[in-house]
Amino acid sequence: MHLQYHILFLSLFCCSYLVFSWSQNDLFSQAKNYEGSSDLVELQYHMGPVLASPIDLYIIWYGHWNRYHQATIRDFIYSLSSPSPYPSVADWWRTIRLYTDQTGSNVTESIVLSGEFFDSSYSHGRYLSRLAMQSIIKTAVKSHPRALPLNPNNGLYLVLTSGDVQVQDFCREVCGFHYFTFPTIVGVTVPYAWVGYSGTQCPGMCAYPFAWPNYSGKPPPSANGGTNIMKAPNGDAGVDGMISVLAHELAEVSSNPLINAWYAGDNPTAPTEIADLCLGVYGSGGGGGYVGKVYKDAWGDGFNVNGVKGRRFLLQWVWNPVKRRCFGPNSID
Ligand SMILES: *[C@@H]1O[C@H](CO)[C@@H](O)[C@H](O)[C@H]1NC(C)=O
Ligand SMILES: *[C@@H]1O[C@H](CO)[C@@H](O)[C@H](O)[C@H]1NC(C)=O
Repeated sequence: MHLQYHILFLSLFCCSYLVFSWSQNDLFSQAKNYEGSSDLVELQYHMGPVLASPIDLYIIWYGHWNRYHQATIRDFIYSLSSPSPYPSVADWWRTIRLYTDQTGSNVTESIVLSGEFFDSSYSHGRYLSRLAMQSIIKTAVKSHPRALPLNPNNGLYLVLTSGDVQVQDFCREVCGFHYFTFPTIVGVTVPYAWVGYSGTQCPGMCAYPFAWPNYSGKPPPSANGGTNIMKAPNGDAGVDGMISVLAHELAEVSSNPLINAWYAGDNPTAPTEIADLCLGVYGSGGGGGYVGKVYKDAWGDGFNVNGVKGRRFLLQWVWNPVKRRCFGPNSID
């Protein structure tokens, strides 16, 4: 009994995006360690599936959402598999495509926004446990008349919570996580991810580098004598930060959907996944509190990739298994 509880407890803590936790310095030095090519990173394949079939992505908007924020997030998702000027979001996704399963199938290039559900009545309240995400998915697939399909073959469910929703460990340990549903709750096993809007609760933790935590004093200086705080390319630190977290989770859920495919470390209850290895790195030279070489538009907004409709985004780099280092399409080498 105790052991079961223990295992369940641990597994629920799996696969979180631990950004800029209170031990910031550790994190910076960790990011620094992984910036260059490294033989110390033991990323391993554990024989499970990757998301190789075209992904049908379903968004559950939980709570009250600003439609401009929704439009920005949708455009990011459209950008994953649509052409845009180089370096693009789709170019960024090419690194994730380098991960294969034991049949030699790569992660898919196709992510299609296949349905949206608006849970504006906060069906499970404003204080959510991690496990509650699965009940929210169940509600979305069972509602009438506008239910989402329950798609165990190609479905990937994304629960996005608005700024007035508190989530277990949100803003303290995590900004987002991914896992898979249990048949006892949802009826099938299907991968999902959750990301919260941090703009009102903790931008300094979850919207880095568009905000900086207050408690740590001044942000570290950048090479040109300014600070590392960047202006958000889509005008809202919370939503631009959310998109980087979302990119992180999509990379990881695609390469490790059932927590038995690609990760480093011996402990499947606390795996270090392909985006965890590159926390805080957005460009060449990144790490140690410096985001790396990225672009600035005419208004001083920071970005590293282009998307559809002239949008720009700042996405965290991920581990490239061929180059054996963190990589993104804006790399200068
Ligand atoms: C599939 O992955 C392999 C191994 O990383 C890589 O060599 C190949 O280029 C990938 N294919 C695509 C289409 O990305
Ligand atoms: C940081 O300070 C600003 C301005 O004083 C405030 O608006 C913001 O909520 C604070 N952020 C955190 C995470 O405490």
